Amino acid sequence: MSWNRKHLLDIESLTDEEITTVLDTARAFKAVGERAIKKVPALRGKTVVNLFIEPSTRTRISFELAALRLTADVINFTAEASSLKKGETLKDTARNLEALNTDMVIMRHSAAGAPHFLARVLNASVVNAGDGAHEHPTQALLDAFTIREKKGRIAGLNVTILGDILYSRVARSNIWCLTKLGARVTLAGPSTLVPRVFEQLGCRVTHRIDEAIADADVINLLRIQHERQRRTMFPGTGEYASLFGLNKQRLEHTRPDAIIMHPGPINRGVEIDSDIADSGRSVILDQVTNGLAVRMAVLFLINGGQGPQEITG
Ligand code: CP
Repeated sequence: MSWNRKHLLDIESLTDEEITTVLDTARAFKAVGERAIKKVPALRGKTVVNLFIEPSTRTRISFELAALRLTADVINFTAEASSLKKGETLKDTARNLEALNTDMVIMRHSAAGAPHFLARVLNASVVNAGDGAHEHPTQALLDAFTIREKKGRIAGLNVTILGDILYSRVARSNIWCLTKLGARVTLAGPSTLVPRVFEQLGCRVTHRIDEAIADADVINLLRIQHERQRRTMFPGTGEYASLFGLNKQRLEHTRPDAIIMHPGPINRGVEIDSDIADSGRSVILDQVTNGLAVRMAVLFLINGGQGPQEITG
C-alpha cells in the first residue's frame, strides 16, 4: 500500500505505486458495490462538499454517490445558485465552507490551478474534479481501472487518444497515468489540436487516424472542447467527423478486440458514430460504473484509509 496524501490534485505528481494503490482499492470498492448492502462507514461523521463551478453530469453525481456510499454528509454547491453570482471570491467562498468544518472539498473549475489554490488556503482535503485544460485525475484513474479490468494489464498496451488533445484535461491526466503504468500512448487528431510538443510527454503524435487506430488495444475518443477553444481550430464538425470521427468503415481497420472508450459527454455523429457508442466494443458505460468505485477509493485514501485490505478484511 502506497498512499500518504491529503489531496488529489493531479496525476503528474503521483508515482506508479500510488496509482496502483488507488486502482487496487477501487477494485475492492467495486466488489462492495455488488453486495446487497453497498454502504460502508469509512467516512461516517465527515462532511464532503461538491464545489462545482463548471457544469458536470458524471463526475458530480459519481462523487456525490461515492461520498454517500462511504456514509459521509454531502453538500452540493452550485455556482449559479450561490453568492459567487453576487461577486464573492472563491477564497471567501472556500473560507465559509471551512467555517462549517468541512473535511473534503471536491472542486471543478474552469481555471487551471484553482484546486491547488484551494488546497493552500484550506485545512480540508481537496480533490480536483477537473481544472480547465490542466488535469482531471479521477477520470484518468477510472479510465486506467477500466483498461486493466478489460485487458488484464496496462503495461505494454497501445492506447490511442483521438480528438481535441490541446484543450483536454482528460488527455493530459491520461497521458501521465498511462505512461507511468507502462502503456504506449499515441495521440491523434487535427494538427491544430494535436501539436508535436506532446511528444515531450513520451507520446507518439500522428495526424493520420488510420495509422493511429490500426494497432491500438484501446481507442479513447475525446469530444471537441468548444468551450475552451479561443479560435476556430478546424472548418466545422462535419469535416471533423469525416476526417477524424470513428465510423463503421474505420472500425473495420482496428483490432477486433480493441475497446472503445469516451469520458463523456459524447457528441454522437461527430467524434463517434452512434452505433459504435452503443455497440459491444464500447466500454463507455463501464467507465461510468467504475468511476464510482475509483472515487470511493480516492475519498477513502485521502481520509487515511489503509488500502484494499482494510475493505476486504
Ligand atoms: N467525464 C466527465 O468529466 O463528465 P462530466 O463533465 O459530465 O463530469
